[in-house]
Amino acid sequence: MKIIGTGKALPALRVSNDMLAEFLDTSDEWIRTRTGIKERRLLSDEDLFDLSRIAANEALIDAGISASDIDYMICSNVANNYVTPSLSCILQGLIHAECPCIDINGACSGFIYALDIAESFLKTKDDINNILIVCAEEPSRFTNWNERDTSVLFGDGAGAVVLTKGDDLLAMQLSSQSKVEPLYYQRNLEKTPYNKKPEGNAPLVMHGKDVYKLAVSSSVLDINSIFKSANISADDVDYFLLHQANIRIIDAIRQQLEQPEVKFPHNIENYGNTSSASIPILLDELHKSGKIEEGDVLLLSAFGAGFTTGACALRWSLS
Ligand code: ACO
Repeated sequence: MKIIGTGKALPALRVSNDMLAEFLDTSDEWIRTRTGIKERRLLSDEDLFDLSRIAANEALIDAGISASDIDYMICSNVANNYVTPSLSCILQGLIHAECPCIDINGACSGFIYALDIAESFLKTKDDINNILIVCAEEPSRFTNWNERDTSVLFGDGAGAVVLTKGDDLLAMQLSSQSKVEPLYYQRNLEKTPYNKKPEGNAPLVMHGKDVYKLAVSSSVLDINSIFKSANISADDVDYFLLHQANIRIIDAIRQQLEQPEVKFPHNIENYGNTSSASIPILLDELHKSGKIEEGDVLLLSAFGAGFTTGACALRWSLS
């Protein structure tokens, strides 16, 4: 595979930590020092379909192709208004694409899982040349806004990439462990006359310290495994694009890898944790600002509910 275009879309509404402190028992100081977040963007008038469409169209324009050139579309999403049809099917109509569409839910690791699926398709299917991945998330709709624990951590957003056949992928590493308790969101299904079992309905539940420890240890493991399979060292990597969950998690991983801060770009201060959209949004910003150069080695690493993790290394070559 090879990435030939990127895009992103964020809601217009900026919500600062101080704005949250108006109705939650929290403070700018607590949020900034514990997470690195200064503000986040939250959906208000727009919806997730708008964000998905804008991010997708930006990526298509950047790639220099039109929606009709897309042979397969993958959306990564944890939850949106529709359980069915999939977000990708809805988006297909909005951008006027004609191709098979599928959604995946790998929580915050979804982008890496989507890249892995795309790589397999591009490698094995002659009729698939261009794949559009859109990671679109609205975690603000599944956190509990009466509690300070999770609502302050997340933001909404969408990131997209267009991929074509190429040799830019150096290594891929995925893992999943069935660990529900540290992080879950549970919703009620419709009632039936036959199913009398008691059922739960919980906005996002997170055991922050457990997630923190799992995130740091699994990300370091994945990254070291990537070094081995790609036959590279940390020094060969130009930028580490880590899932933007918490600046302290990013820094703990950086310290274990003994690498300078400049190699760990971040935007969590502006957007909070946008789940699977966080890495493609960051990638788009680095690419469009000219920070990533031809030939740069990028190492992407994410972790999320499941517990899922994924990392990959790629050599950046747009031409
Ligand atoms: N404002 C003020 N106080 C708060 C807030 C808040 N917003 N939230 C929690 N607290 C309080 C708690 O009640 C607790 O109080 P207590 O000590 O009196 O019981 C205290 O702060 C906890 O503080 P710390 O122990 O210092 O918190 P910690 O350093 O663990 O940081 C955090 C908490 C930020 C949640 C951290 O554990 C973390 O980032 N974890 C990982 C989160 C994450 O990455 N999630 C990924 C989601 S992935 C997905 O797929 C959705």
